Amino acid sequence: MSELVIKDLHVNVAGNEILKGLNLTVRQGEIHAIMGPNGTGKSTLAYALMGHPNYDVTGGEVWFKGENILELEPDERSHLGLFLAFQYPVSIPGVTVANFLRTAINAHRKAADPEDKGIKIPQFRTMLKERMDMLKMDHAFAGRYLNEGFSGGEKKRAEILQMATLQPEIAILDETDSGLDIDALRIVSEGVNALRNSEFGALVITHYQRILNYIQPDYVHVMLDGRVVESGGPELALQLEEQGYDWVREKHSSVVA
Ligand SMILES: Nc1ncnc2c1ncn2[C@@H]1O[C@H](COP(=O)(O)OP(=O)(O)OP(=O)(O)O)[C@@H](O)[C@H]1O
Ligand SMILES: [Mg+2]
Repeated sequence: MSELVIKDLHVNVAGNEILKGLNLTVRQGEIHAIMGPNGTGKSTLAYALMGHPNYDVTGGEVWFKGENILELEPDERSHLGLFLAFQYPVSIPGVTVANFLRTAINAHRKAADPEDKGIKIPQFRTMLKERMDMLKMDHAFAGRYLNEGFSGGEKKRAEILQMATLQPEIAILDETDSGLDIDALRIVSEGVNALRNSEFGALVITHYQRILNYIQPDYVHVMLDGRVVESGGPELALQLEEQGYDWVREKHSSVVA
């Protein structure tokens, strides 16, 4: 069983320290939710884990499958089984959803076996249609340029489509729920739940308890000022929804700026 172990992670963005010694362990099979006020470093954590070049790791370690992944390139982290669904997905004009996904799948296969000839087109088409049906996406999306002109909710759905085709071992979902309509939230959550098994773990970053009714977390964490300051079960998310963050700030006033 692999686990993602984050130890005392410090990350600078544009010269400012944003993550200030963050500790967290996510095992395969577990769903962890991360909540926290705007600007506390949730997306910074997500980007730093995937290796975004603007996020400068100044201290700490992140272990996954026996490797300190901070030494790996983003594509190597992806091949190892990590995945990030972006809070703000970027569009790639000129690259269709289908081409993008097939290229990503083939890159993964090649990394696992240099002799691999790539997924057969009919097999890929069948798989893509199956996953799109699961997410109730019109098949026409396969031929559109990635995220180009997609509505906010369509972009979030396209992120989950990527996740469903790449089948990562640990997925980070950065506010996948924001921008989704009520039906889409349920459909996307069902898509995530369909991947849930003993080999799939996720870090679900969210502001709202609602998505956690669908994707039931094993653990809920609260981030404040670049650290995880509270951890608990699903009841913690309900408490935050009711009471806000003031009590967390007061409780941790000695470590929070
Ligand atoms: N390029 C940058 N230059 C300066 N500050 C930055 C830059 N990028 C991020 N930051 C700062 O880092 C802090 C953490 O941002 P981050 O996006 O990680 O927060 P977040 O917890 O994801 O917030 P939200 O809930 O609003 O998504 C913020 O104060 C943000 O302004
Ligand atoms: Mg964010």
